[in-house]
Amino acid sequence: MTGRACGKVILLGEHAVVYGVPALAVGIDRGVEATAERLTDDGASVLCLEGSGEVLVTDDSDLARAFHEVLSASDVSAPMRVTVHAELPPGAGLGCSAAIGVAIGRALGEALGQPASLEQSVARAMAWERVFHGNPSGVDAAVSAQGGCIRFVRGEPPQPLRLATKLELAIGHTGQSSSTKTMVEGVARLRARRPAVFQKSLDGIRSLVTNAQLALDAGDLKGLGQLMDLNQMLLSGMFLSTPEIEALCASAREEGALGAKLTGAGGGGCVVALCAGNADAVVARWQREGFSGFVTIVHPAEGRT
Ligand code: MEV
Repeated sequence: MTGRACGKVILLGEHAVVYGVPALAVGIDRGVEATAERLTDDGASVLCLEGSGEVLVTDDSDLARAFHEVLSASDVSAPMRVTVHAELPPGAGLGCSAAIGVAIGRALGEALGQPASLEQSVARAMAWERVFHGNPSGVDAAVSAQGGCIRFVRGEPPQPLRLATKLELAIGHTGQSSSTKTMVEGVARLRARRPAVFQKSLDGIRSLVTNAQLALDAGDLKGLGQLMDLNQMLLSGMFLSTPEIEALCASAREEGALGAKLTGAGGGGCVVALCAGNADAVVARWQREGFSGFVTIVHPAEGRT
């Protein structure tokens, strides 16, 4: 009994979304697959996560606690064996954690003969996410469960967006992982120290997101790229960028990308570059520079109307 969930890229609005600013995010085809089966004995449920070995739900670890939360949110009391295969690097800003939560929640639903609805998938992923992230806005869980392109405001149902044209994205990995929880806490400290300056950044990001939504609707990729570059400037001003992120963005722009920025929590992880026929060249350039990367295309059909 299998459940799948997609990874994600935030086009604009990460971190600000924690404080109620809208974010624009897309699902990507790399994701997570989970399988669930009922154990025949009366032992504890087991989670097999590639790279982390086997975890019993009764263990004293965050993984075990998150597993317990997602089992409870799925109303599962019978012992289960859940196996997870992730095609996404962890701690890279591509929504690996939320996708694991969605995929497990879906696999459990299938195994119990009660397939999870969209809302149930998001609720199960949020139960998983809260253990690791403390204060998640919910954007990762929403886009991982729904796919396509969404506008997300914290506490509101995600709004599917129609894409006027395909988005060709190059995703580059700095090679460093980062903790979303730590980065979100760092931003909260910045907000407490300099509330007025922080509010100006939030206002700036809000206006970039509004314009980016118009650009997406009009198929104005050049405009969208420029707005992503401006978002990157504001994110660097919030101390979320690193020399590697800046290097990846600069190389992408030199190769002709329309815009480039960190995606997700920053402090390492991935950058996203919006391309127009040159995503392969951008990834090849990153590889020559010692970084890894891949191309992903978001098709208009994946954005719902
Ligand atoms: C992480 O993918 C996105 C952040 O905005 C955190 C969140 O929204 O929960 C950094």
